[in-house]
Amino acid sequence: MKRFSERVALVTGAGSGIGRATALRLAREGASVVLVDQSESGLLDTEALLREGTQVLRRVMDVADESQVTALVADVIRRFGQIDVLCNNAGISGGHPPITAQDRDEWERVLGVNLIGTMLLIKHVAPHMQARRQGAIVNTASVAGIRSGAGGNAYSASKAGVINLTMTAACDLGGDNVRVNAVCPGLVETGMTQPVFDYARANEKAHKLGSRCELRRYGAPEEIAAAILFLASDDASYITGQALPVDGGNTASLNLPGMKV
Ligand SMILES: NC(=O)c1ccc[n+]([C@@H]2O[C@H](COP(=O)([O-])OP(=O)(O)OC[C@H]3O[C@@H](n4cnc5c(N)ncnc54)[C@H](O)[C@@H]3O)[C@@H](O)[C@H]2O)c1
Repeated sequence: MKRFSERVALVTGAGSGIGRATALRLAREGASVVLVDQSESGLLDTEALLREGTQVLRRVMDVADESQVTALVADVIRRFGQIDVLCNNAGISGGHPPITAQDRDEWERVLGVNLIGTMLLIKHVAPHMQARRQGAIVNTASVAGIRSGAGGNAYSASKAGVINLTMTAACDLGGDNVRVNAVCPGLVETGMTQPVFDYARANEKAHKLGSRCELRRYGAPEEIAAAILFLASDDASYITGQALPVDGGNTASLNLPGMKV
């Protein structure tokens, strides 16, 4: 299936995990891809996995820096003339201190990338979509933006912010046929969660990974990418302003310890 032929898709955080899986699948389905990450080696690894003949623009940058975002968008428009799909996926987790030990700088760092970075990309990409009355934006939020227990205070607040920004941006852009949606992944094995997986495996706790989900397992980056592609595609042409949990049923349940067989 080539749902993205003749389309240009920009993916942030494309150097690893969910962003890499998303970029690879977009390209497989016909898109020209703009790969953005702060890790050059990550981007090179992603690019090496693309099929020969894929049109690609690679950019090492920080999504939280507005001047770098402005320059990126100008370069993409110069090269491709359009942006049809924007996947705001770059993110950082921050630490897990209790609420009484929060650090202001850490909050600014986490919100800067996860929430303000998402806003900046939308701010600078959306006008090009509005001008053509065509575009789909998919933000990667998290189950941490819906419930506590899946991330630190700053991370969870940043992802709750991404969910709300998805709604407000959808309202601002809907009149120009630009859709904005979000996915809320549950636990997925990626660079961000590797320490959790490594710890569990080294301590005979691997069976616990994802065990609180209704599907009794953790997710793969490709399963999140599949949902992102759906929301970015014309298959979702009447969906905007929504945040879709892709979490093995995690947020569907109260998940009380001891209640599972
Ligand atoms: N892995 C999970 O269980 C999980 C669950 C819910 C949500 N998420 C979200 O999924 C998204 C992708 O994360 P992942 O799990 O694939 O982790 P990852 O660490 O494998 O990938 C994140 C990528 O973002 C890049 N990045 C970080 N800060 C950046 C910045 N300032 N500018 C540009 N690039 C930057 C990193 O270099 C990295 O390549 C994140 O937004 C994360 O919060 C992940």
